[in-house]
Amino acid sequence: MSMQSVITPDPSDAAALRGALSRFGTGVTIVTTKGEAGPVGITANSFSSVSLDPPLVLWSVSRGSSRYHHFAKAEHMAIHVLSSDQQPLCRAFSKSAHAFDEAAWEEGAHGVPLLTGCLARFECERYADYDGGDHVILVGRVTRAVLHEGDPLLFWGGSFGGFACGGDG
Ligand SMILES: Cc1cc2nc3c(=O)[nH]c(=O)nc-3n(C[C@H](O)[C@H](O)[C@H](O)COP(=O)(O)O)c2cc1C
Repeated sequence: MSMQSVITPDPSDAAALRGALSRFGTGVTIVTTKGEAGPVGITANSFSSVSLDPPLVLWSVSRGSSRYHHFAKAEHMAIHVLSSDQQPLCRAFSKSAHAFDEAAWEEGAHGVPLLTGCLARFECERYADYDGGDHVILVGRVTRAVLHEGDPLLFWGGSFGGFACGGDG
């Protein structure tokens, strides 16, 4: 039988739980909004679809992030699903809210910065927010979605990679 690890979540060792959670593979997004002093963005993999009617999506923002206040009170935001060639952008927006110099973008409705060349983009208006412990869960109502052809950027086990088609399943 293969090795297994058992983890009892312990705040003094968040890395252990994070390691277990990282067994769940995700896509990667950049969420943007209009900050008080200009455009702001953040790399986020907590994105998830929620509802088709009404059209709702969610992501969660860390209360500990220096960008928390921008997103916690934002009435409008855009969620960008990254393509495999956008890993530099993912890194740039994990380090800084102001990495727009490295991105191709334009200003959209309500001053929300829209990144171009993403696999999908969801323009959202604030719908609800919920306490999520050290994060806040933000639910947005999708007002417009844009799709492009391309390959996804995926995140699993703390590493970035691509999609390997496993056949017909
Ligand atoms: C792959 C990846 C996924 C991330 N997902 C989230 C997320 O869902 N929510 C979040 O608040 N921060 C997330 N972060 C962290 C933020 O991008 C950012 O690094 C963090 O808010 C620290 O920013 P600060 O230095 O401005 O405080 C993620 C980072 C990476 C690299």
